[in-house]
Amino acid sequence: MKNYEELFNDNELKIWADVTTYCNAKCPQCPRTDPNGLGKAEWLELNQWSLQQFQENFPISILENCQQFEFCGEWGDAIMNKDIFEMCKYVIDNSNSTIAIHTNGSIRTPKWWKELGEMCGDRLVVTFDIDGFTQQQHEHYRVGTDLKLICDNLKALNDTESEVEVFTIIFKHNEDDIPKIAKFVKELGVEKIMFILSSRFAKVAEINSRKIFEYTDNNNKINILEQSRFNADAGSIFLKDIILNNESINILEDYVKNN
Ligand SMILES: C[S@@+](CC[C@H](N)C(=O)[O-])C[C@H]1O[C@@H](n2cnc3c(N)ncnc32)[C@H](O)[C@@H]1O
Ligand code: SF4
Repeated sequence: MKNYEELFNDNELKIWADVTTYCNAKCPQCPRTDPNGLGKAEWLELNQWSLQQFQENFPISILENCQQFEFCGEWGDAIMNKDIFEMCKYVIDNSNSTIAIHTNGSIRTPKWWKELGEMCGDRLVVTFDIDGFTQQQHEHYRVGTDLKLICDNLKALNDTESEVEVFTIIFKHNEDDIPKIAKFVKELGVEKIMFILSSRFAKVAEINSRKIFEYTDNNNKINILEQSRFNADAGSIFLKDIILNNESINILEDYVKNN
């Protein structure tokens, strides 16, 4: 494995930046979400980098040696950052680096996403979170997000040269609908999807041998998320990028039926 200096000299640096702790969503198992009421975790300070801070931390002399710039984040959603468009433009204009963004996608407008795609072209890949094929199913975990807006934003970006992918987290409430979610995503014009199983069952109890995660929503109602029945063993459909075609959807259908 190459060390930092070798990666730098070979222009292969991969940078992962957390540029905000703001988020519009309240996913119950996210580390920024307080499971008692789904507000922001009390210990988390709200802040975001400005374009100027970003440029100071990543001067052009670093960017030039960069292969990929990833905006994912642990404590927030990068698209909430007020300067994210300008940060992407700075990377595009001053390097050959690609940009990868992970987002809940329920932020900003189709016009904004189209402009982002036109500015970045084929050097941008955005992964949108879609956890269901109906609003009700999607928002079971992606609390506070709007599936219609996500789809409109995704389609606007997909009409540019930028690449769109989808990330889907599987629980009990959507495990039987994996093939339907895949078809829904394919119909949006997306070719690649990744399914993962949620393993974040920190507040653990069990119902019928499935782990559960208990939380209260903002109306003080007690809710649970239940673990999927599937295993993430090698050879399973999980943790793989799936190229969506008729054959892969048939494989997903067989998997759900037989496991
Ligand atoms: C904290 S999020 C930040 C990025 C962005 N806000 C988002 O949700 O895509 C980092 C990653 O954690 C993933 N994630 C959230 N809840 C998860 C869960 N219960 N199990 C596995 N991954 C999860 C998100 O989908 C995202 O890929
Ligand atoms: S969208 Fe991402 S950052 Fe926001 S609450 Fe959900 S997992 Fe956390």
